[in-house]
Amino acid sequence: MTPSSALFSLLLLSFLFSSSFATLPRFQHPAKDGDSLRLLVVGDWGRKGLFNQSQVATAMGRIGEELEIDFVISTGDNFYENGLTGVDDKSFQESFTNIFTASSLQTQWYSVLGNHDYRGNVLAQLSPVLQQLDSRWICLRSFILDAEIADFFFVDTTPFVLKYWNEPENRHYDWREVAPRDQYIDNLLKDLDAALKESRAPWKFVVGHHTMRSVSEHGDTVELLDELLPILKENGVDLYINGHDHCLQHISSRGSQLQYLTSGGGSKAWRGTYVPNDDKLQFFYDGQGFMSMELTGRRAEMRFYDVFGRVLYELSLGKEFQAY
Ligand SMILES: *[C@@H]1O[C@H](CO)[C@@H](O)[C@H](O)[C@H]1NC(C)=O
Repeated sequence: MTPSSALFSLLLLSFLFSSSFATLPRFQHPAKDGDSLRLLVVGDWGRKGLFNQSQVATAMGRIGEELEIDFVISTGDNFYENGLTGVDDKSFQESFTNIFTASSLQTQWYSVLGNHDYRGNVLAQLSPVLQQLDSRWICLRSFILDAEIADFFFVDTTPFVLKYWNEPENRHYDWREVAPRDQYIDNLLKDLDAALKESRAPWKFVVGHHTMRSVSEHGDTVELLDELLPILKENGVDLYINGHDHCLQHISSRGSQLQYLTSGGGSKAWRGTYVPNDDKLQFFYDGQGFMSMELTGRRAEMRFYDVFGRVLYELSLGKEFQAY
């Protein structure tokens, strides 16, 4: 082999090698004011305004304006009870477009799917046609949002949960483009691990629908603790942000910096369940509300709000140095 053809094969090899990793779609959304990024997080909301969804939306609009937010994150269960039936399902307007009407909320919404979304036509909820109906809507299974100050890794958690695969026939889950489960999850975890290792952002946050740790109705998701959590800990992820349990909560992991934050109070709440676990519960609110995040390279401040937009709890994390 001549030196140049050797070099060429090396380049080709490294291209083939690297292209087999980090295949997660990537979006860029740097903070509009450069030094600080501000956003809201809401989950479990799509009920056509009922169960205080409209009140939560109004409060989000006000806080969103105060903070001059850059974008909104949805932790899934976007449309109850059974996702969308198709791209022409009016629930999209009735639960999203016509509810989150405040001007501060007319920015990008980055969403994952919840288990209820999987009970409908998932391909419709992921379809770019919805973006033509409402340009705020960005929903993918798993993807990366590069906001410079922070990298957000959105993970499709529903396929992890074994009981959904074994549900009796009365509940239908749309596994198109997902099944077989094990291969899907292997690929996802490999891509996530590679992307986390490549990330140079000061903050690394993972967003998924399902809980890892929770004191509320659904409790922990053991498949995520077994399969996803080790990758998060190994790669120094700062926060795991989820919905699924219809509450607001903060739990600190033992033996790592990882904090678990639940923002699943977008509509129906008040489950009245409380089951403690081995990690350290810092805050739990059983009712409706949402979360804000204000980030700089050095500080991350998270706040939970109730339906009236009153601050219920605040968490502030610091970084020793600016890594970029
Ligand atoms: C709406 O929010 C208020 C204030 O938290 C609460 O008292 C009420 O029960 C909520 N309604 C529903 C249907 O959850």
